[in-house]
Amino acid sequence: MGRLTSDITRGAAVVPSMSNPKSTCSPLQITIAVVLMLISAIAVTLLVLYILPSSNGSSGDGYLIGVGRADCTGPVAELPLMGYASHDQNGAGILSRLYCRAFITAEPDNDTKRVVFISAEIGMISQRVRLEVIKQLKSRYGDLYRPDNVILSGTHTHSGPGGYFQNTIFLITGKGLIRPSLNAIVNGILESIEMAHHNMKKGRIFINKGLLENSQINRSPFSYLRNPASERLRYPSNTDKEMVVLKMVADNGQEMGMLSWFAIHPVSMNNTNNLTNSDNVGYAAYLFEKEKNEGYLTGKGPYVAAIASANLGDVSPNIKGPHCINTGESCENLHNYCSVGGAKMCIAFGPGKDMLESTKIIGGRIYLKAKELYMAASEEINGPISSAHQWVDMSNITVQLNATHTGKTCKAALGYSFAAGTMDGPGVFNFTQGAVEGNTFWDSVRDGFLTEPSNETEECQRPKPILLPTGELSKPYPWHPKIIDIQIVIIGSAAILALPGEFTTMSGRRIREAVKSEFESHGKQGMNILTSGLCNVYTHYITTYEEYQIQRYEGASTIFGPHTLSAYIQSFRHLAKALATDTTQDLPNNPEPLLLNITSLNFLPLILDTKPVGRSYGDVVQDVRPKYRVGEVANAHFIGANPRNSAQNMRTFTFLTVEKFDNASKSWQVVDDDASWDTKFIWQKGKLGHSTAIVEWHIPTNTELGNYRLQYFGHNKEFLSSVIHAFNGSSSIFEVSN
Ligand SMILES: *[C@@H]1O[C@H](CO)[C@@H](O)[C@H](O)[C@H]1NC(C)=O
Ligand SMILES: *[C@@H]1O[C@H](CO)[C@@H](O)[C@H](O)[C@H]1NC(C)=O
Ligand SMILES: *[C@@H]1O[C@H](CO)[C@@H](O)[C@H](O)[C@H]1NC(C)=O
Ligand SMILES: *[C@@H]1O[C@H](CO)[C@@H](O)[C@H](O)[C@H]1NC(C)=O
Ligand SMILES: *[C@@H]1O[C@H](CO)[C@@H](O)[C@H](O)[C@H]1NC(C)=O
Ligand SMILES: *[C@@H]1O[C@H](CO)[C@@H](O)[C@H](O)[C@H]1NC(C)=O
Ligand SMILES: *[C@@H]1O[C@H](CO)[C@@H](O)[C@H](O)[C@H]1NC(C)=O
Ligand SMILES: *[C@@H]1O[C@H](CO)[C@@H](O)[C@H](O)[C@H]1NC(C)=O
Ligand SMILES: *[C@@H]1O[C@H](CO)[C@@H](O)[C@H](O)[C@H]1NC(C)=O
Ligand SMILES: *[C@@H]1O[C@H](CO)[C@@H](O)[C@H](O)[C@H]1NC(C)=O
Repeated sequence: MGRLTSDITRGAAVVPSMSNPKSTCSPLQITIAVVLMLISAIAVTLLVLYILPSSNGSSGDGYLIGVGRADCTGPVAELPLMGYASHDQNGAGILSRLYCRAFITAEPDNDTKRVVFISAEIGMISQRVRLEVIKQLKSRYGDLYRPDNVILSGTHTHSGPGGYFQNTIFLITGKGLIRPSLNAIVNGILESIEMAHHNMKKGRIFINKGLLENSQINRSPFSYLRNPASERLRYPSNTDKEMVVLKMVADNGQEMGMLSWFAIHPVSMNNTNNLTNSDNVGYAAYLFEKEKNEGYLTGKGPYVAAIASANLGDVSPNIKGPHCINTGESCENLHNYCSVGGAKMCIAFGPGKDMLESTKIIGGRIYLKAKELYMAASEEINGPISSAHQWVDMSNITVQLNATHTGKTCKAALGYSFAAGTMDGPGVFNFTQGAVEGNTFWDSVRDGFLTEPSNETEECQRPKPILLPTGELSKPYPWHPKIIDIQIVIIGSAAILALPGEFTTMSGRRIREAVKSEFESHGKQGMNILTSGLCNVYTHYITTYEEYQIQRYEGASTIFGPHTLSAYIQSFRHLAKALATDTTQDLPNNPEPLLLNITSLNFLPLILDTKPVGRSYGDVVQDVRPKYRVGEVANAHFIGANPRNSAQNMRTFTFLTVEKFDNASKSWQVVDDDASWDTKFIWQKGKLGHSTAIVEWHIPTNTELGNYRLQYFGHNKEFLSSVIHAFNGSSSIFEVSN
């Protein structure tokens, strides 16, 4: 549009000087003059109709845009999966790989004015990840990438490895600070930024929005109903159905990327899943990239698509709703309680027959809506880029509630419903096996439990009954972060709020409206406020004050007390004002959070690999059939070794390949690997170090017919040594037919 602007403007400017008829005019001159005036009028009409509304009063020069994608999968066995805090839900293979996706946008005439948005397919960004990434960016790029212009956001998949946190509560649920897990994420983020940094080119960004139906339900409707009726009446639904899409296109016409936000919990995969995967939103991104990067293997190719998280706090994808798994009756009630078996029996499912089908159905709907919005996106984003960031002590903020009353945030604490919701009782603290690097760690944890909440915290958090006064526990490390990132980046008319946790539907709406009106009161009209979830540091949930009063899971997990949302609104408004008035340089420098001195803390089992006498790692123990039809599942079992041995080179490694024999070149060609949703790598741990690796290929209907084989790749660790060997094994050849 911008280039069109200058053409038409130039044309319009030429017309008046040519149509400057003197008093004596020939009919031909008059005709020419009339035609020219007509052209001029049409040009002006075009200008008014099409150009001005989309240019937002800015120069219309587009941006410099860079996109990148890097693997951040981490160890896929024996680590607890991050999300459900269910202590026996450990990784045992790969359904899909996890990716970090980077989008860099810079002003065309000053490329130091830039912002970076990362969407990482992990549970959430931890403070540890944030601090390590910021430190590395500083050492690699100096002052180009900073806390204020880099947003890190997690998609919130519940099927990625944990172990990348530095605060005690997460060290317990993640079985330590597992270096290979943390490194995979930090290095994946840095690599994706590096790729984006190096492929920046001139291009344009278009925005589009639309509603996606049939994909979400509110999982705490009774909390939502506590919000004032007058407020609820302003919205058609108890979840936000709006999807926002940014489309990035280079000036040479090359489509570069798609960045979208949608509010949904990626929990189509339930807490019995053991295969690492990116869940519904990850499946949507996979479909999008698969289509745009035709001819490339999964996770390769220049086009980058991401579905980032939003205000998903109370939004479930399990749209058949909660039912008692024993009796089948609905448990859509305040306590999600079943008359037989209690709350444990109450589980939400759907829409598919099992969790994989549900993931694909919901992911497929997200993909189709994103694609529709992407194809129709025509409103261009233009204008300056800016960013603002502050660290605030969230345990100590005074908020002005109204003219006469103030409220205060509290030292962090988790309520009883937190444990009821996810923690599976004391089980999570019950580690008996494994290499325990330090009994002092567990001694401190035990002593922590003996601490009762102070009267001050109890009073402040009311009506929350406190289970863990985490803000008052500091041994062996602070149990929760308290210095929290508040951050907004602006790209033209889009303002992205980096929300440090899981805002509920109504919390997200309130902060969006508050920030929008703050911008408006300082002369910035028509901003698109995008709420980006699970950013920079994890602080669990953020409910409204009213929702907090019921203390369901989300309220119990609103760790800084009943005024948490008000405090965030106040802090984000503060930044919005600074941005709108160009005074971000005057924001005070608050104390930074500390990178705690934990190098590694590992409560995982020791790795032991053994194999049957006379056999080798990678030997086939159960072979493929000679023939399969498309739609069937080809699979082979191999003598396996612990996948954690492969964590060193995970990012350039695959545990499996599907290979097709190419008659022309007489060689095997890789057609799929462990990143694909059509393959599964399953690791089964046996007794005394024995293990089995299963490679599955769900043969897609559009597969080329011919001869195929499955390969397994692994690393085994020598007994009582740290020496690691790479090995591989292959199935027999099989034929795929119709
Ligand atoms: C580019 O922007 C930076 C601020 O990000 C400013 O310090 C610098 O002077 C600008 N450079 C030019 C050439 O305008
Ligand atoms: C998979 O997860 C389930 C529970 O969520 C657990 O009972 C099982 O032991 C896990 N399997 C492995 C191999 O870790
Ligand atoms: C998880 O989903 C599977 C189907 O894929 C189902 O059999 C199982 O009961 C579900 N478990 C829970 C705890 O939701
Ligand atoms: C809490 O904040 C107030 C005012 O901002 C400050 O004076 C006080 O020292 C802070 N308290 C703590 C414990 O940090
Ligand atoms: C101010 O807020 C307090 C606490 O929520 C409330 O009790 C009081 O009625 C409010 N005052 C006004 C004037 O709204
Ligand atoms: C704790 O671990 C022990 C030994 O593995 C086991 O017997 C016991 O049942 C566990 N307790 C809980 C509450 O999980
Ligand atoms: C809390 O207050 C009660 C009395 O109201 C007092 O007995 C108790 O010692 C206090 N607890 C703490 C931890 O200060
Ligand atoms: C970090 O901890 C290690 C041992 O736990 C200690 O040797 C080292 O001095 C500490 N480093 C800092 C900077 O405190
Ligand atoms: C490839 O070669 C095999 C065996 O020689 C044959 O059966 C098959 O039809 C050939 N496929 C193609 C596509 O030429
Ligand atoms: C598979 O293993 C063999 C020998 O063990 C080795 O020569 C070969 O390079 C390996 N293949 C791959 C693709 O790693």
